[in-house]
Amino acid sequence: MPLPPLSLYIHIPWCVAKCPYCDFHSLARRGPLPEGPYVRALLDDLDRSQAALRGRKIQTIFFGGGTPSLFAGAAVGEILEGVNRRATLEADCEITLEANPGTIDSRRFQAFREAGVTRLSLGVQSLHDPSLRRLGRIHNARDAYDAMEAAAGAGFRSFNIDLMYGLPDQTAAKALADVRAALAVDPPHLSLYELTIEAHTAFAHDPPVLPSEDERMAIEDAVTQAAGAAGYDRYEVSAYTRPGYRCAHNLNYWRFGDYLGLGAGAHSKLTGPEGVTRVARIADPARYMGDHDRIASRRLMARRDVVFEFLLNALRLTEGFSQDLLYARTGYDFTDLESLWAHAVTRSLLWREGDWIRTTPLGRRFLDALLAEFLAITEIMPAEVS
Ligand SMILES: C[S@@+](CC[C@H](N)C(=O)[O-])C[C@H]1O[C@@H](n2cnc3c(N)ncnc32)[C@H](O)[C@@H]1O
Ligand code: SF4
Repeated sequence: MPLPPLSLYIHIPWCVAKCPYCDFHSLARRGPLPEGPYVRALLDDLDRSQAALRGRKIQTIFFGGGTPSLFAGAAVGEILEGVNRRATLEADCEITLEANPGTIDSRRFQAFREAGVTRLSLGVQSLHDPSLRRLGRIHNARDAYDAMEAAAGAGFRSFNIDLMYGLPDQTAAKALADVRAALAVDPPHLSLYELTIEAHTAFAHDPPVLPSEDERMAIEDAVTQAAGAAGYDRYEVSAYTRPGYRCAHNLNYWRFGDYLGLGAGAHSKLTGPEGVTRVARIADPARYMGDHDRIASRRLMARRDVVFEFLLNALRLTEGFSQDLLYARTGYDFTDLESLWAHAVTRSLLWREGDWIRTTPLGRRFLDALLAEFLAITEIMPAEVS
């Protein structure tokens, strides 16, 4: 069986300030960033991860965070040169970098482009100043417009705008105004995330008043319809694109491809002869830079967990998944997992058409509940390793 496509994820764990809703591995920087030592640690980590690369090309690279745009273009260039020396990149390798509008200017964007970045992802979140303040963002709407304009003019192949909805005090009209303002910039790609209150965040300790369940439904309908009416294709639960601009890196996650994650707190999913292994790097940047043993945990997955995680990802895609993809990633075909689909198809939550399975609009709306059912079923499957 051929191995899945391989992506590279590079985690930059620092931000200017920690946002109260964020549970990503990130911490507020104190003083200048240790760019040199961190770049050396990343490349040393890659040297020690050669077994994962053997014979495989890297399809996509993603600098995520934290706030990768805090790094200078030269540091990003050094990382990419180092990766190029140690690995083979696919000819049209998509290289994305996440940027916070409070940390960039057009010169910095130009430097990222010259370093080899092909795609930017801008964390705009909202274009309404009171919402940005409530979210603890370090930028205002003016900064976000400037960043979007600079991204559009810097010659990247593509750029994405992240917006959040269901914000404190938000109404459907306000959410719609946010999305329409972002659409007016005509981004090739748009991500619309409903704000979730994650455990261990400042918002979890001191929760803001969120719109009611009914209001949240109305907001979701309004924002998804606005993106659709503007000609964007909703190809994943939160991702909207102009034709030809899907995010290849995220598509590899959703199709349950492999990825090597480098950097403090980064996660990997790698397939080998023994099965699918999940690896986590130590999250503390000082220890990540100071220690050659950077692995916090390594776990060979049980086959039933592989099935569940495949569904967790692939059912997010509007296209769903084919029997061939299910078989390639899990070793099961549709008939082996009949107990999963049959009931969901009867209740119009899933469509099964020939060799494809995907969610119906109803299934997409209640995806979390559907996945909870799948989890309960897969948990009682035999626990053989993958
Ligand atoms: C890893 S963050 C990185 C972006 C960059 N650090 C920034 O914030 O500008 C990726 C995106 O996830 C979304 N996000 C983060 N926390 C979220 C939450 N609790 N609920 C919904 N979306 C969230 C935001 O839209 C954010 O831009
Ligand atoms: S800037 Fe982004 S990664 Fe950093 S704390 Fe805020 S949301 Fe999280």
